[in-house]
Amino acid sequence: MRLSRLALPALALAALPTLAAAQDPNRTAILARQGQMELLQLHGGVLFGMARGNIDYDAELASLAAGNILAVTTLDQSLLWPEGSGVGEATEETRALPAIWEDNATFMGHWSDLGLAAEALAEAAGGGLESMQAAIGPLGQSCSGCHESFRQSN
Ligand code: HEC
Repeated sequence: MRLSRLALPALALAALPTLAAAQDPNRTAILARQGQMELLQLHGGVLFGMARGNIDYDAELASLAAGNILAVTTLDQSLLWPEGSGVGEATEETRALPAIWEDNATFMGHWSDLGLAAEALAEAAGGGLESMQAAIGPLGQSCSGCHESFRQSN
């Protein structure tokens, strides 16, 4: 009894370096970029819900959601897409396609487009349902425009 109690923690400790070595060096970057996408999804979902009439329009909530989308689009992307962190290379789960690194200018162009759409949306979101609806379309298009070429489809 005594021995195995001691042996188990020792084994667990011995296994630690191996586990650390097996972890994807880009894990944090991958999780961070997926997290920023989830932030876009969360706040975009509120606005799309209002635009479609599934959620009652609320100017304050619409402004908040659009403001957070705009904030995400201002994050510098330099550290979020390291080479070697795409599909086929990363051990972490990812849907980032190699095209991101092969044609980085186009990829970053999509990110800039998103920023412009988010600026317009942030201006319009609190100004009434119709004003918000007009601005949410281009935002949605910039999401899907980038996903089409740079995110692996499910
Ligand atoms: C510049 C390109 C680009 C733009 C613009 C973009 N995305 Fe993405 N998105 C990606 C890529 C690439 C991935 C895959 C990332 C990965 O798995 O590492 C992704 C993944 C996602 C995911 C899955 C995240 C996860 O947990 O794995 C969601 C949700 C998402 N995007 C939503 C959005 C929404 C909503 C917008 C627009 C408001 C948007 N994206 C705009 C490129 C983009």
